[in-house]
Parts: sequence; structure tokens; C-alpha cells
Amino acid sequence: MSQYIIKGGTPLTGEVSIGGAKNAALGIIAAAIMADDSVTIENIPDVRDINVLLDALTELGVRVQRINRHTVKINATKINSFRADSEAIRKIRGSYYLIGALLGKYHHAEVALPGGCSIGSRPIDQHEKGFQALGATTEKKHGLVFADAEKLTGNHIYLDISSVGATINIMLASVLATGQTVIENPAKEPHVVDVASFLNSMGANIKGAGTDVIRIKGVEKLHGTTYSIIPDQIEAGTFMMAAAITHGDIVLKNVIPKHLEVISAKLMEMGAEIEESGDSLRVRAGKELSGVNVKTFPYPGFPTDMQPQTTTVLATCTGTSVVTESVFESRFKYVDELSRMGAEIMIEGNTAVIKGPKSLTGATVSAPDLRAGAALVLAGLAAEGYTVVEQIEYIERGYEDFEKKMMELGAVMAKIEQGNERAIKKFKLKTA
Ligand code: UD1
Repeated sequence: MSQYIIKGGTPLTGEVSIGGAKNAALGIIAAAIMADDSVTIENIPDVRDINVLLDALTELGVRVQRINRHTVKINATKINSFRADSEAIRKIRGSYYLIGALLGKYHHAEVALPGGCSIGSRPIDQHEKGFQALGATTEKKHGLVFADAEKLTGNHIYLDISSVGATINIMLASVLATGQTVIENPAKEPHVVDVASFLNSMGANIKGAGTDVIRIKGVEKLHGTTYSIIPDQIEAGTFMMAAAITHGDIVLKNVIPKHLEVISAKLMEMGAEIEESGDSLRVRAGKELSGVNVKTFPYPGFPTDMQPQTTTVLATCTGTSVVTESVFESRFKYVDELSRMGAEIMIEGNTAVIKGPKSLTGATVSAPDLRAGAALVLAGLAAEGYTVVEQIEYIERGYEDFEKKMMELGAVMAKIEQGNERAIKKFKLKTA
């Protein structure tokens, strides 16, 4: 196990290149097993959750060939199992896309119930409702979801909640169904659109992804394709918040500024300057920033996956801020750790009241989940003195080379083995 040690107080400057979107890649990799030929996927992030899913494909008999660090060729013509139930797959959330993909193509799936970050109850009832509307039966037993269908037939599905996972899963299960499927109240996140574009590039007929209604006309088969995944909105947003909390000046390369508009708008409201130019975005936060109110919502609202990073920045801003989490029920667990660094945050239900400005001070803290882990790193970058962030396996689930990218921007930090006191001493001597 590893941990980060960080010496705070250096403004981040320079350029950082943003990788492919993890949450799009999870859907796209699962979708790739539905093709009758080889599929090449580019701009795949090299992060743990993705590698776990790729390993799970191998266990199903899928040929997975790494062309290079970010390009993978997938050939699923010799699939020989419909069961994904390794110890690793049980821990990731994106495994649920194998249910939709296997059901859609083979009418049978046995997949471990999804894990993922512990940020609320995270049921999959809307996924199941969608599969059932298409004619499948679903059953949960022995920790697995079993989905079966004699035949899948298009239907009209109204989602009670705009769920990202359910929207993508229903698209997967219906692309090869007979007739038309209509999904009302779907999620509109950029990665939903990216999965739909990928499926269309394999010959699917999906219209309306990114709008209030998605229409899918079933096709007979899906063919091979070469496809490049969109940049990761949340990785980009995390670096934007890192620039803000360190009063830095950074340029993000390889982003889609449109996907970042809501984050840019909040940063500007806080007093940061944002400049957009083609596929890059400059974030400058020279002066003191002011507190703002934030409420998370499905896209195009403020992303829940940016909530911990934003709350952390707000702890250092002047005035009182209120952050309301309306997507997940318990996503403020990291606040206790932030308090140990000097933040003044009160939680009432799904609302955090943040009293700023507070000068954060270094401490040993533990990442409770992926995005909150990243938030604690941001806190460490701004804090006076040394911060140790433990349990960084969570961060590595979704951020590629996180510490390297931060260090290229001037962050003073290192990745060391957990409990290696000598390495901590050495880092402190070097950075004193
Ligand atoms: C995905 C993302 C996650 C992000 C979230 C919201 C992946 C692997 N994960 O998670 O990073 O935070 O979208 O943008 O892509 N819900 C139900 N029933 C369901 C499905 C969802 O009640 O069947 C509820 C959830 O508990 C939650 C809300 O709907 O309160 C949104 O969840 P959803 O959009 O499905 O998130 P995930 O797909 O789990």
C-alpha cells in the first residue's frame, strides 16, 4: 500500500494534459464485447477500475490486446463465459455494464453486484426495470445479478431518476433488440453521449443521447470500429480546483471546455479567471477567492463527482458557503478529515455549511473514496506544512499518474510506501 506525502504552499503553474474519461471508458469497453469483429479503443485512461474491467473481459474469453498504454484492441468473437465474478470486479461500479452488454448480445448475464465508492445506497432498480421492460428477467442471488431473456423487444422506458448507469445499461441491452426503445428522463452526462456515439460507430441506431429522450432502433449486428474516448470532465475539474486552492495559474490541455462550463462558472463566481482556447482552458486564481453556494445535480448541473474537491476549495475562501449534495445520500464522509486540517464545516443532512477563510494545516488523513481522496490531496497542496494522504488506492482507481501530473505543475509531493518513516524523513529533509 502506498501513500502521498505533500508539502503545501506552492502555487501550481504550467500545463497538464487531461486523459480519457474513466466513466465513458467503462461503458465503451463493456459495449465493445457486443461487436462481431475487433474494436480498437483509443484514449483509454490507465487507471485501476479500467484495468479491472479489462481483466474481467479476459476471464470471459475476450481477447484484449494492449496496443499501447492508452489503446486497446478487443475481440469478443470467442467469448466462452457469461459470468464476471472475480474479487476485483466485485469492487468496481462499472462492472454493471457487463450485464447490459452480455444480456443485449447473448440474452444471458451473471455479473457480481456492483461495488464502487461508498457514497450512498446506490441501488440498481432502474437498470433492472429497463431490462425487464425489454423482456428480460433479473434476479439477485449469491452476490450476483442474473439477467435472462428469450428475446429482447424494444419498449418505452421512463426512468424515475436520471441515472447514468441505468441509461447506459438500457442502451446496451436494447441496441440489438427487436424494434424501437425509447428512454425518457435519461442521464445526459457527456459519457452517456460518448457511449452512444461509440455504439453508433459500430452500426447501432441511437438518436437523442444528451437530450431528454433517447430513441434506439434495434439493429441486427454491431461491427468493428476504431474510436477515441472523450477527455475526463472530472479529472479536468479536479486540476481546475487544484489551481484555485493553490492560487496557481495552469493550462489544461485536451479538454472539451463545454463539458466544464458549470465548473468554470462556479470558479469565476469565486473570483478565478478562466480563459478558453480551442481544446485548452487556462485557470488563474491569483487573488483571494470568495465563498459561493453549490448544489449538485445531474448534467448539465454541477457534478456530484466534483463536490468534495469544491467543498475543500471553499474551506479556504472568504465568507460562508453552502454546498448541497442532491445526487448521493452520504457523500460528506471526508469532512471529518478536512476538519483535522483546520477546515470549519458543519454537516446537516445533505448540506455542508463552510465557514471560511481557514488556513489549512498539514495532517495525516485517509482517503475515504476516489473523489474525496483527490480532495484531500488538494487540501494538502494548500496546507501549511506536511500532509500525508493514506489509502491512495482509492485515488488510483480513477486518476492516472495523479502525483506525477501534480509534480509537473510544481506540487511538492511524493508517493511512498505506507508507513515508510525513512522515506517521510528523507522527503522532509529534501523539502525543508
Ligand atoms: C455514475 C458514475 C459516478 C457518478 C454518478 C453520477 C460510473 C461508473 N460512476 O455512477 O462516478 O458519481 O454516475 O454522475 O459511471 N439510482 C437509483 N436506482 C438506480 C440507479 C441509480 O436509485 O437504479 C440513484 C443513485 O442511488 C443515485 C442517483 O440515482 O442517488 C444517481 O446515480 P447514477 O447516475 O446511476 O450513478 P452511478 O451510475 O452509480
